[in-house]
Amino acid sequence: MAVIETKGLKKTYNPDKVPVHALNGVDLKIEKGEFTAIVGPSGSGKTTLLNIIGGLDEPTEGTAIVKGTDLSTLSDSELIKFRLQHIGFVFQAYNLIPVLTAIENVAFIMQMQGRPSKVCHDKSKALLEEVGLGDKINKRPSELSGGQQQRVAVARALSSTPDFVLADEPTANLDSVSSTDLLDMMAELNEKEEMTFVFSTHDQRVIDRARRVVTLVDGKIDKDETRE
Ligand SMILES: Nc1ncnc2c1ncn2[C@@H]1O[C@H](COP(=O)(O)OP(=O)(O)OP(=O)(O)O)[C@@H](O)[C@H]1O
Ligand SMILES: [Mg+2]
Repeated sequence: MAVIETKGLKKTYNPDKVPVHALNGVDLKIEKGEFTAIVGPSGSGKTTLLNIIGGLDEPTEGTAIVKGTDLSTLSDSELIKFRLQHIGFVFQAYNLIPVLTAIENVAFIMQMQGRPSKVCHDKSKALLEEVGLGDKINKRPSELSGGQQQRVAVARALSSTPDFVLADEPTANLDSVSSTDLLDMMAELNEKEEMTFVFSTHDQRVIDRARRVVTLVDGKIDKDETRE
């Protein structure tokens, strides 16, 4: 079973005024263990697609299916639970909680899932070690570089052992060295743990790392290339 499947996804913003067709019929299947980049010009629908796959936004037409569940069949509260259990998010602007330390930020989602605090602490520590921040677990976001903050965001996304991680331009605010490091780390998690990553990017170095590159143009898939 595909981890993610979309069928005929369309998204129209402002349908009653000047309609914007952000997605124009996207059929996409993503299997477990993929390392896939969604690319395309600004405004081509990348964020819209990721938001719909992540259950953060609803399509105007079509369906988004995650692990066999059609997201449109879930109530609001079921969707919140579903996201928490199945999907890890990494955003462009880190979205860490400023008053919490790195380890507290990573533990946050597990705590919301009601896991015992020792489990939260130990797993968060292990995840931060895995992303190369074992010596920074007690630092707050303001004491970390952009690249380090984004590593915390990846560790947090992985904390709920999601089925896949969605990352919308995860390197947009990073310099080239930090971008390369972040991608190396994601690629390693992908290889070692078969973690599925779907990320959007404008960065050619990031695109070069992807094993599959899906190009959107005007809300449609224009190209879908897989490399060995
Ligand atoms: N909330 C919204 N209301 C109205 N139009 C929107 C909204 N969100 C996105 N759009 C429009 O939908 C289209 C697709 O936007 P989207 O953000 O998905 O593009 P993108 O590929 O992520 O672009 P970028 O590379 O700049 O991040 C654009 O024309 C955008 O202006
Ligand atoms: Mg975008």
